[in-house]
Amino acid sequence: MQGPSTSMSQVVSSTKVLFVCLGNICRSPTGEAILKKIVKHNNKQEHFIIQSAGTGNYHVGEQPDPRTRHHGEKRGLVFESLAQQFNPKIHFEYFDHILCMDESNYNNILKLDDMKVYHQKVKTIMSFAPHTGYTIVPDPYMGGPSDFELVIDLLEVACQSFYDSL
Ligand code: 4NP
Repeated sequence: MQGPSTSMSQVVSSTKVLFVCLGNICRSPTGEAILKKIVKHNNKQEHFIIQSAGTGNYHVGEQPDPRTRHHGEKRGLVFESLAQQFNPKIHFEYFDHILCMDESNYNNILKLDDMKVYHQKVKTIMSFAPHTGYTIVPDPYMGGPSDFELVIDLLEVACQSFYDSL
């Protein structure tokens, strides 16, 4: 789960954050890259483990969508991970914060926690930024450049608010 240079004590003491969307190639990799950038800016890399996952399995093993990479890299984001599907057997226990992009992702993740053991870990990322007027990060997959820019705009604000809330 952790990278090759992560020690066991780091894993135990880290804040572990998982971003979730549908395909894990547009929104959640963007959230992952933005929170990593914020953490790096604050020199706190040793205190965080940050990943992303999709509720669907259509794109498992793929890099983020080329449009996500194009718009994100222009703003200094670094995309490091390949798409994975949310695994309830591993991810509910391992992560402290499971941050969903929209209501559909949120409801699908909660459904996987049928004993309601992990419900308090699961939130929508935009619940950290109610002042934006957005309750979800809209799916840009069928959209154009402005939709991908909006994903970054919203997640920059919401990830900063999430970080400040810790
Ligand atoms: P994401 O966007 O959930 O933000 O990664 C999507 C990516 C792929 C698909 C839908 C949404 N798809 O249907 O393949």
